[in-house]
Amino acid sequence: AVTRHYKFDIKLQNVTRLCHTKLMVTVNGQFPGPRIVAREGDHLLVQVVNHVQNNISIHWHGIRQLQSGWADGPAYITQCPIQTGQSYVYNYTIVGQRGTLWWHAHISWLRSTVYGPIIILPKRGVPYPFAKPYKEVPIIFGEWFNADPQAVISQALKTGGGPNVSDAYTINGFPGPLYNCSAEGDTFKLKVKPGKTYMLRLINAALNDELFFSIANHSVAIVDVDAVYVKPFDTETLLITPGQTTNVLLKTKPHFPNATFFMTARPYATGPGTFDNSTVAAILEYESPQTIHSSLSNKNLPLFKPTLPPLNDTAFAANFTRKLRSLATAQFPAKVPQKVDRRFFFTVGLGTNPCPKNQTCQGPNGTKLAASVNNISFSMPTTALLQAHFFGQSNSVYTTDFPITPIFPFNYTGNPPNNTMVSNGTRLVVLPFNTSVELIMQDTSILGVESHPLHLHGYNFFVVGQGFGNFDPNKDPAKFNLVDPVERNTVGVPSGGWVAIRFLADNPGVWFMHCHLEVHLSWGLKMAWVVLDGKLPSQKLIPPPADLPKC
Ligand code: C2O
Repeated sequence: AVTRHYKFDIKLQNVTRLCHTKLMVTVNGQFPGPRIVAREGDHLLVQVVNHVQNNISIHWHGIRQLQSGWADGPAYITQCPIQTGQSYVYNYTIVGQRGTLWWHAHISWLRSTVYGPIIILPKRGVPYPFAKPYKEVPIIFGEWFNADPQAVISQALKTGGGPNVSDAYTINGFPGPLYNCSAEGDTFKLKVKPGKTYMLRLINAALNDELFFSIANHSVAIVDVDAVYVKPFDTETLLITPGQTTNVLLKTKPHFPNATFFMTARPYATGPGTFDNSTVAAILEYESPQTIHSSLSNKNLPLFKPTLPPLNDTAFAANFTRKLRSLATAQFPAKVPQKVDRRFFFTVGLGTNPCPKNQTCQGPNGTKLAASVNNISFSMPTTALLQAHFFGQSNSVYTTDFPITPIFPFNYTGNPPNNTMVSNGTRLVVLPFNTSVELIMQDTSILGVESHPLHLHGYNFFVVGQGFGNFDPNKDPAKFNLVDPVERNTVGVPSGGWVAIRFLADNPGVWFMHCHLEVHLSWGLKMAWVVLDGKLPSQKLIPPPADLPKC
């Protein structure tokens, strides 16, 4: 294992897409941002220097941060943001993980432009549990706004309605040829040789949409999700929610097919809100001079286009996610907690807040849109929760009375209750070290059923069950998979259904859990767990680094 140093200069950069140039916040002037490449066991030191007017913080999405919670990154949860002119060194070790993860800004909507891949190779000399690919290529999905995304969300929060949707989805920063006014250079091209295996490291960094992805005339084998190997299976189309990563093997055809192929993505959209129903395309191009298309205008498209499922294809989503299984071998065991110390039942969904006085609001019946977990819409504190916890100063910052079951039970997926109002608060759950947790997350029909990609910081969890309708505590647990469930850090709570996860609370700190649809995060679909120290030195959170930013 080695120590790897990176420097992230947060600075403004002019970027042009869709014939629209804007000055935006970037890392080192790059969009998408730089790649972090490391091996399992390596130690990372990433110095982030803020040269812009916005406050910033960076989250290393999916990195477990064992005992190093100070490096996790969500603003006001594990640290105060890095202010203009300040810097902070994120200091952590990659323990027991290899695959693809990613990093992104974790404050306001800055992650729309501030994100990039984390590539974790196995330890030196340790092979993949599949044949070594000829090449590995990160494919990162994003969203492009012609407007400033910060202005889009502050406008929405002011009016209480839904935010404007993005102008395009992107692949490696490019919207591709299916958008009007997409210039020649606006397309990501992957040049391939015939008869080889490529590993595509897919990352969904889009702000607000789960995405279907497919490559025309090619199927892929899924081998890894969220930096955990899975039992490989072939598919023509896959689903990836914001926050998730998926490694796939793409075998190029043995004979030169004399063609180029589209790789496309577009939303899986179940919610009541508006969404951008457009398609991003990149190009898979077999190497040969004759077949390189000189122009990518809409009249002169490459030849093959994939078919993607209908926008609201919940059946596809359920079938696809059911196929994901841990490898569960001697070398890569699935350490599923078999006994449970504490059970939790959380509803996740939308709701409303009263409209502030002297304001008109665009939410239902003149209210302000909100979102909640167990009817609590999370209020962001003004100082970091982890500091408050570590120094025993939680009193005026947060309370530890987060409801562990819904306060008012109702038919969650049936007729919505008349009262859509949420209550607001910074309420947390405290877990003793090594608590074995089972958590049911139930979608609600308040303002419409909708799939929510829930992300837990600091942990991987096992997805032991999922289903449609209301979770039935008498029948459903009998069907849980405690043998080879998929292990991951972000899971789609099915639209009009539920998901059951288990994890062992073996990482002390304060850990955020939230919907990875950025608009729902802004509306309060988030909460946090406090995991207490264990007795041994190796079970305690380390003290904060000297350069930890101050609020
Ligand atoms: Cu990738 Cu808290 O998020």
